[in-house]
Parts: sequence; structure tokens; C-alpha cells
Amino acid sequence: DKKTMILGIETSCDETAAAVVENGTKIRSNVVASQIQSHKRFGGVVPEVASRHHVEQFTLVCEKALEDAKATWSDLDAIAVTQGPGLVGALLIGVNGAKALSLAHGLPLVPVHHITGHIYANRLAGNMQFPLIALIVSGGHTELIYMKEHGSYEIIGATRDDAAGEAFDKVARTLDLPYPGGPEIDRLAKAGEPNIKLPRAWLEPDSYDFSFSGLKSAVINTVHNAKQRGKTVDKADLAASFQESVVDVLVTKTMNAAKAYHVRQVLVAGGVAANQGLRSSMAKACEEADMPLSIPPFSLCTDNAAMIAAAGTIGFLKGTSADMALNGKPGLNI
Ligand code: KG4
Ligand code: ZN
Repeated sequence: DKKTMILGIETSCDETAAAVVENGTKIRSNVVASQIQSHKRFGGVVPEVASRHHVEQFTLVCEKALEDAKATWSDLDAIAVTQGPGLVGALLIGVNGAKALSLAHGLPLVPVHHITGHIYANRLAGNMQFPLIALIVSGGHTELIYMKEHGSYEIIGATRDDAAGEAFDKVARTLDLPYPGGPEIDRLAKAGEPNIKLPRAWLEPDSYDFSFSGLKSAVINTVHNAKQRGKTVDKADLAASFQESVVDVLVTKTMNAAKAYHVRQVLVAGGVAANQGLRSSMAKACEEADMPLSIPPFSLCTDNAAMIAAAGTIGFLKGTSADMALNGKPGLNI
């Protein structure tokens, strides 16, 4: 029986990543060169700096992925690359690099939407059971997606302002925590009590949309008001309260959607899926509703190329391929 071996490439933001995945399910290698240290001193990702790092790392990371997989170019069936969404300069490095490799080695080129990559990180860790509801929570995205089958995506809700991860990062900044703020808030929240009253944006009763900018402003106001009165807020309590507010809305809306769409599985993906508070609340809600839950292990929640190869495998088997006109698309639709 013939295996499908795909090289995945991911450069949409601040990780230069390459991975080899077998049959869309088995990780043969997973190389991630993180740029977090370079962006930390700026308090966020600087696009120009990101592009330069991608140029430096691209070849090294691809070669390492093949080496770790004990594979040669002739073992591969295709190259899958993140086409978008993401930073335009960052995407261009990955897409053009993938095009060059595809031409040089005579391999088909499969474009992948970054969010579908996050979703398919779940297939590397277990099964996907359809139909399913996927909650995507990352630095750039907050979406509820209904999937009837492999490769089929219906967006039923999305954020109207900040993404969940963006809210975590901005609140962390207000609390003088380093970038990226999500893991910092997560850690701090464990030491605190969620005893500060913060808003939850439920929006219209039957809406699956999200909004986090009001919550973010409420946190900033809480800090400023305390300062004006010469007081300090307990950072751990504020982190715990903020996190609870975000998690509450994410879990409630996801479970509402799972019920309304009669799905067989709830799936969580994206960088914020690494959040302990979200993982445990979602696990509890799914257990109570007798609903199977899939969340990738921590290492597959944040950006990586194994997830791009996994999603690319579905595209490859469906016959999706691109030619040398392929371009990075910062605002690519799913
Ligand atoms: O998926 P990802 O690596 O990149 C995007 O596609 O955006 O997600 C990065 C986001 C950042 O906003 C980061 O703060 C957040 O995921 N994040 C977390 C945690 N780990 C990463 N947010 C909350 N809790 C965490 N443990
Ligand atoms: Zn991502």
C-alpha cells in the first residue's frame, strides 16, 4: 500500500516551519524555528523582521525536516504551503520557496489555508469525526466552523473585532507582561481568583459571533482606575478574571453550536487552544454534554508545518494543486 508523504511549509507569521507527514496522520518530522526572541523586545511581531528571519531559516528548516524524517526528495508526493492568511512579506517567502522546491524536484504544489492547518492539527493527534464544530482561536482568528466532511468549511461565527489571542496579548501588555502574552496570562491566572467583575459579550441571543474589544477595554480601565486612586490591582486576579470571561463565552457558544448542528465532535484549534483554562472548561462542558472533544497537544496548537502538511494531504488527495503563478494572499478566504 502506497503511502502519501507530504512536506509542509509554514511562514505566515513568526515561525519558520517545515515538516514531513505520512498519510495525513503520522508526523515523520516537525521543525519549527521560532522568532519569538527577536520580536519580544518590540512587544509584538515586526513584519519586516519576520520576513528576514524566514529568508535566513527557510532552506535550513526544509533540509532539517527531510533529514529528521529520514526521507529524500524522491520519497515525497507533494509540497504543501501556507498561502494565507498572514503577513504578506512572510507568506511570500514560504510560497516562493515552495515554488522553487516544487520546480526543482518535480513535485506538485498544494496551497493550504492557515486555519485549515490549525484544524487538521487534530488529525495528527487522533480522529476527526464528522459532522463537527471547530473552534479556532489564534492570534489572528476567532471562528466557529461547521465541517460536514473533510475539506468542507462553513463559517457560522467569527469575531467582530479582536481575535481571542490578540485580546490575550493586549491585556498582557497592559499588565506589563512580555510577548506573547497568552501563555503569561495563562500562568498568572492559575495563581489568581476570578473575583473581578468583567463583561461578557454574548451579542444577539442566537449569534455565534464574538467580540473581545469591550472586555479588553474593561481590563485596561480597571488598571487605570486603580492607578488613579493610588491603588494597584492584583495582576493574578485580573488575569484569572479576564481569562474566565473569554473562556466562558468561547465554551458556551461552541456548545450551543454543537447542539444546534447535531455534531459528533467538538474540535478546538489555534494558539489559544494551548490555554489551560480553555482546555479544562471545554473538557468539562463536553463531558457534561456527552460530546467527544479533540484538542491538539500543546506543541501542535501554535503555528507549525505538520498541521499544514496534514491539511495539505486532504487537498492533494482531492487533486488540488497550484502552478508557478501561486501567490501569498494575506486576506485569503477559507
Ligand atoms: O496559532 P498561533 O500560533 O498564531 C496565529 O495563527 O495567530 O497563535 C498565537 C496566539 C498568540 O496570541 C498567543 O498569545 C496565543 O496564541 N497563545 C495563548 C496561549 N499560548 C499561545 N493564549 C492563551 N493561553 C495560552 N496558553
Ligand atoms: Zn496560526
